[in-house]
Amino acid sequence: MKEDRRFTPSAEFSKRARVRSHAEYRTMHQLSLDEPETFWREHTTDLVFRTPWKTFLEWSLPKARFFGGATLNLTETCLDRHLATEARTRAAIVFEGEPGDVRTLTYFELHREVVRLTAALADLGVVAGDRVAIYMGMVPEAAVAMLACARLGATHSVVFGGFSSDALRDRINDSGAKVLLTQDGAWRRGNVVPLKKMADDAVAQAPSIEKVVVLRRLGAGHTPVQMKEGKDIWWDDLLSRTASEASAKLARTPPAFDAEHPLFILYTSGSTGKPKGVLHTTAGYLAGVHITSKFVFDLREGDLYWCTADVGWVTGHSYLVYGPLSCGATVMMYEGAPNFPDWGRFWNIIEKHGVTILYTAPTAIRAFIRAGDDWPAKSDLSSLRLLGSVGEPINPEAWTWYHRVIGGGRCPIVDTWWQTETGAIMLTTLPGACYSKPGATGLPSFGVDIAVVKDDGSECSANEGGKLVVKRPWPSMARTLYKDDARYAESYWSQLPGVYFTGDGARRDEDGYFWVTGRIDDVLNVAGHRIGTAEIESALVSHPAVAEAAAVGKPDDLKGQALVVFVTLKAGQTADKLLKEKLTEHIDREIGKFARPDSIRFTDALPKTRSGKIMRRLLKEIASGAAETKGDTSTLEDLGVLAKLRADEE
Ligand code: WT7
Repeated sequence: MKEDRRFTPSAEFSKRARVRSHAEYRTMHQLSLDEPETFWREHTTDLVFRTPWKTFLEWSLPKARFFGGATLNLTETCLDRHLATEARTRAAIVFEGEPGDVRTLTYFELHREVVRLTAALADLGVVAGDRVAIYMGMVPEAAVAMLACARLGATHSVVFGGFSSDALRDRINDSGAKVLLTQDGAWRRGNVVPLKKMADDAVAQAPSIEKVVVLRRLGAGHTPVQMKEGKDIWWDDLLSRTASEASAKLARTPPAFDAEHPLFILYTSGSTGKPKGVLHTTAGYLAGVHITSKFVFDLREGDLYWCTADVGWVTGHSYLVYGPLSCGATVMMYEGAPNFPDWGRFWNIIEKHGVTILYTAPTAIRAFIRAGDDWPAKSDLSSLRLLGSVGEPINPEAWTWYHRVIGGGRCPIVDTWWQTETGAIMLTTLPGACYSKPGATGLPSFGVDIAVVKDDGSECSANEGGKLVVKRPWPSMARTLYKDDARYAESYWSQLPGVYFTGDGARRDEDGYFWVTGRIDDVLNVAGHRIGTAEIESALVSHPAVAEAAAVGKPDDLKGQALVVFVTLKAGQTADKLLKEKLTEHIDREIGKFARPDSIRFTDALPKTRSGKIMRRLLKEIASGAAETKGDTSTLEDLGVLAKLRADEE
């Protein structure tokens, strides 16, 4: 579809913005590439360094060292520095629980809670360099937990609360975490997600875990959780103990760490079965999320900024916690689902608290469109001044609805493209400086040298589709995959010589705007969740009834992509509805409910090349209901398989 409408920010918005014109953006971006030292020197003055950095970058592909010579404790930028300003009494987090309970933590209070937990973790024996797993819902303590780890120099590994206990166990075992922070349960659509129960199942097979710290979230009247003597400890009990003098001192005046000290591991899906433990380090990550929060979200005093992403995903790390807090912003945090108790919940929260900036995902926007305009119409949304989108391509229809119905036609929209691995926003428009085009993610962030290339590495011409690559390292990029340098080099820096391969396809138009079309590797994006087809397949074949499985995506109006799996069974198994249910439950258990296939199709055989590779391309066409095969089938082993699969269509 050709979409060439342009939406220019209002003069009023631009006047107040930090970057006010396209020309100014271009000059800054050019400087960030030509003279990175000068650019980053100027833009890291808000970061608290104990020892200033000497070298911007030492690069020996694929190993990067940014801000060499610097030492810092990242939490001083996010917390301590604000205590010396009027931000001390400003709300850092405004929390709304799903049951409707509201809590506000000022910067002073957030700092206090982080210091207390830091001391408590130190008393539990956690030291810098240890890994700590966090399996929590959307409660302020999840942010406290992340920040306390950072303050102590422990590497956190947040595992999304929607993951199953098996998935949690695998992630804990890969990282070798010593302590697990969790909660009795979390609220989701009026139901309790039994996090502690699932954590128990995981910990039973995770020998590295010495202590489990459990936050009370549910209150009286709920099924009590089992607390294991000597291992499990209530969060409030832990904090009410008097910390040892040494730990209290350490927490109050925390040590400084090297710029490249590991900050967190976040597992994400790749094109092979095992999840990737993406590792981010301290100074470069902080610099990246700080300047993008400041320039892309235009954060300023008086804003109430709401990023709806879960802390379990990178968006929650970078734009719910680290980025906005590094700017001293007030962050809205909501525990529950967008449609509970009804589809008006988001709009109600915006009116009730006066949210000024909303950052959410296209899949949510499409669901809101489906629910109808009456819901947002019930609330006063006039406090909003800026909207953001992230996670998948936003279709122009959803964009214009978001702009018109939610933004009242007055709010610029920033469509931000980035990845778990990039740490921070890579493509976007700056809201006061550049017009936006519905469906285009816009222009490169500062310090980002990005291009669309052909298979031979040469750049595509305007509007020609190709592979999206980053041509030089940038501060917030992942440094490696945890304990797997080889896979890091192989996945990102070896596909095309000398450049970082994103896994996405894109084109750049005649105005230099990027249009990201989606993954071109074996990774799916289902309702904004990144799902590896190989992960689904290996989960399925681990079921005793399954011989072979192939997972593919099919276009879906609501989810962007829907997950379709083709399954062949072992001899003697019956392909029936009951087995479909069993396989669905099996995925719930192996990965989590969010990875449930939208459709399971039993087949006698899968289309394969003569060398035995499953031809996913053909399956994709069949899943999408294509009547004929467009692609080349010359390597297909048995054409009969295709005809049969079509005939079996649901
Ligand atoms: C993949 C990364 C970091 C944001 C949360 C997802 C897709 C992300 C956009 C966008 C088109 C997008 C890409 C990317 N994606 N944002 N604005 N437009 N596609 O992080 O789970 O690491 O997934 O999400 O395909 O590679 P993630």
